[in-house]
Amino acid sequence: MPTTLLDRIGLLVTGSSEYGAGSLLGEIADAALVIGEAGLVAWVGPSRQAPSTDTKVDAGGRCVLPGFVDSHSHLVFAGDRAAEFDARMAGRAYEAGGIRTTVAATRAASDEELAANLARLVAEMRRQGTTTIEIKSGYGLTVRDEARALALARQWTDETTYLGAHVVPAEYADDPAAYVELVTGEMLGACAEHARWVDVFCERGAFDADASRAILTAGIRHGLEARVHANQLGPGPGVQLACELGAASADHCTYLTEADIDALSSSGTVATLLPGVEFSTRSQYPAARRLLDSGVTVAIATDCNPGSCFTSSMPFCIALAVREMRMTPAEAVWSATVGGATALRRGDVGRLVPGVRADLVVLDAPSYVHLAYRPGVHLVTDVWTAGRPGIAGPIRDPA
Ligand code: NIG
Ligand code: FE
Repeated sequence: MPTTLLDRIGLLVTGSSEYGAGSLLGEIADAALVIGEAGLVAWVGPSRQAPSTDTKVDAGGRCVLPGFVDSHSHLVFAGDRAAEFDARMAGRAYEAGGIRTTVAATRAASDEELAANLARLVAEMRRQGTTTIEIKSGYGLTVRDEARALALARQWTDETTYLGAHVVPAEYADDPAAYVELVTGEMLGACAEHARWVDVFCERGAFDADASRAILTAGIRHGLEARVHANQLGPGPGVQLACELGAASADHCTYLTEADIDALSSSGTVATLLPGVEFSTRSQYPAARRLLDSGVTVAIATDCNPGSCFTSSMPFCIALAVREMRMTPAEAVWSATVGGATALRRGDVGRLVPGVRADLVVLDAPSYVHLAYRPGVHLVTDVWTAGRPGIAGPIRDPA
């Protein structure tokens, strides 16, 4: 690939404290960025010092930032739950049990239908600036359907997560222990080759602490790394279990005790906040300020799924994080890029510094602040993935 100079960047967000005189986002004004032959960032700095390259692109004074890292999504499913959302907006509460509606639709869908829905949602995310996507299974809940979901997700991303433990399916309602046995046994055996991560919905109505520990531990023994749906619908053991097992991330964190915050701040586990869920279920928002002020690493992700939150938009989640969780625009952008990369244990994405993958977003705005200042406005004008403009093909490192 020819080397490319992206020049006349009004404001470049590097995400690294090595730049930008101590600003959280490592901001460089009047900047340029060089994409090297391998699709990696080769150089960043002031425009006037830029080296020469094969080609040159004019950013026209716009803001350039790292592509968003959406570290939590459920994109392999069929059908939708608009009727459930409608009922919720009329006063009904969100319940974990709604998952079973999507499970029935997903099991009944053909491979082609699932693949088409997945491709549509991935494209939707990428148009809005997301360049790294984690995708979970969890709407199949049979050996065949979970493995099928993960194999489909793997066609798009290496960040695939085995979530056979999303909820106990109806056919195991009388014997949940037998379902845990399936999830930790035959289903895990069929899914592990397609997955990097193991996840569990540790919540009342889904899996308790003992079952969750057994499921995560079995996954870890099979070479998977852990992440946990924790403390979404009420206080519970999920966050502390995630910290105890060294999970990369505890996701949701809506109901936290002081002990949960202490556990997060003294572990390497990231707190991944999903404010689109609170928006779409009309619930209280997580205490982002308390987490940040306690030194916890915070990520923001969409949780895109047909039940609790059907947005694919990281810019929308950034706006919510700022408006509803009192994060500053810089903190929210950090959490949607570097934070998400940390939650996926990825050092090669989420920032724009030499050596990382050239995944970047050009905003039709002079500053990233506009992502929150102009909520609901499509500001992402260009997306580059692995050094190439556009959103075609799987999200992988260049060959
Ligand atoms: O992250 N909490 C569990 N899973 C999803 C919701 C799934 C659904 O309602 O279909 C979530 O919110
Ligand atoms: Fe989720």
